[in-house]
Amino acid sequence: DQGQKIDKYLYHMRLSDETLQEVSERFRKEMEKGLGEDTNPTASVKMLPSFVRSTPDGTENGDFLALDLGGTNFRVLRVKVSDNGLRKVEMENQIYAIPEDLMRGSGVQLFDHIAECLANFMEKLNMKDKKLPLGFTFSFPCHQTKLDESILVTWTKGFKSSGVEGKDVVAMIREAIKKRGDFDIDLVAVVNDTVGTMMTCGYDDHNCEVGLIVGTGTNACYMEEMRHIDLVEGDEGRMCINMEWGAFGDDGVLNDIRTEFDREIDMGSLNPGKQLFEKMISGMYMGELVRLILVKMAKEELLFGGRLTPSLLTTGHFETGYVSAIEKEKEGLQKAHEMLTKLGLDPSAEDCIATQHICQIVSTRSANLCGATLAAVLRRIKENKGVDRLRSTVGVDGSVYKKHPHFARRLQKTVRKLLPDCDIRFVRSEDGSGKGAAMVTAVAYRLAAQHK
Ligand code: BG6
Ligand code: GLC
Repeated sequence: DQGQKIDKYLYHMRLSDETLQEVSERFRKEMEKGLGEDTNPTASVKMLPSFVRSTPDGTENGDFLALDLGGTNFRVLRVKVSDNGLRKVEMENQIYAIPEDLMRGSGVQLFDHIAECLANFMEKLNMKDKKLPLGFTFSFPCHQTKLDESILVTWTKGFKSSGVEGKDVVAMIREAIKKRGDFDIDLVAVVNDTVGTMMTCGYDDHNCEVGLIVGTGTNACYMEEMRHIDLVEGDEGRMCINMEWGAFGDDGVLNDIRTEFDREIDMGSLNPGKQLFEKMISGMYMGELVRLILVKMAKEELLFGGRLTPSLLTTGHFETGYVSAIEKEKEGLQKAHEMLTKLGLDPSAEDCIATQHICQIVSTRSANLCGATLAAVLRRIKENKGVDRLRSTVGVDGSVYKKHPHFARRLQKTVRKLLPDCDIRFVRSEDGSGKGAAMVTAVAYRLAAQHK
């Protein structure tokens, strides 16, 4: 039947338990490579120290601003945290657009725009005369030597503004604000969105020691023992590591499981040869993977009676949101009909079933791959702690994890299968990573004040 035909056609996208186990083991080696001083320079998974040394303990307090750049939305936030026994967090936020030409234009213009949005936000809240501490969630790989210095290694996802790679984004924001001269802030900390998410969830669950994002991009962070982090002085305590796992496979270690569709996605991307693991998984690419499969099958007359439409042939026209809609339990097939019709096709019932099946295979592979790498991270935490059974919490955010009807369940199933000796709790971050950035800022601000 139709299902079996597709299964056969997409044989290489259906990963067996043994393959997932193998991916997990390979990732485990990549983590070690990234952590080692001698091996880090050639490692593709960079294991970047975040300079965040603890998760929230409830004593955080104060009034903060936060910026959140790099996911679907750019936000400016105000976060008020009180520790008077109530552990209350109040937040106000505003989404601002970042036009595409700014994402791919000059870096100076990008940061001018960010400063302008900040000014607008402070104006609206009537607080332009206050110099508040600010935490910046910047969801890209950065080299940090302290919380308030963050050098962009490389742009990922949809960003490619010039003159920022190799530069300190803190300095660029400060410069943009200084140039305006109409307000001032105290930029205290830059955090990755994985770190912000772990901290957001860590405020309510003290077992939270991993942050996971499956959204526009994919990545994770976790608390590592300082004695294992060669790149940072000191052996006491722990530090959060932003793994940048999206780059897993950039040295070729996943070539045996990458398909022709993965290679095609990569070649048409803004960053060919980079973020190869991310391109098999995250929301920026999932719909496009499905589209490429549909096109190839139509060309071979296996779908749509061999018909192609200009819309189906256009990059980006099969949105990742369609995958979620089409995989819905009840209305999925009807959604498939709707979406394919939107692309100018006249799908038969069989075409709709096939499309749904293709979506399932692509999104299941994505969830399974994330599960495999996450299992490697949790196994490492377990070994670090030397316990028989690990109890731990993973804080999660991102549009794919939250909006796809089966993604979370499939990912959790893979983790449990690979780690039968662990009790892992998954907590969705409901407040975004801006809240977590404020937590980091609160601690850093208090420490700085103590040392003055
Ligand atoms: C949000 C975070 O909640 O999740 C962002 O605040 C983050 O910083 C995002 O990048 C990831 O999801 P998406 O789907 O918007 O990329
Ligand atoms: C990309 C970024 C990474 C981020 C992830 C999720 O992989 O490089 O820093 O955490 O997307 O947003």
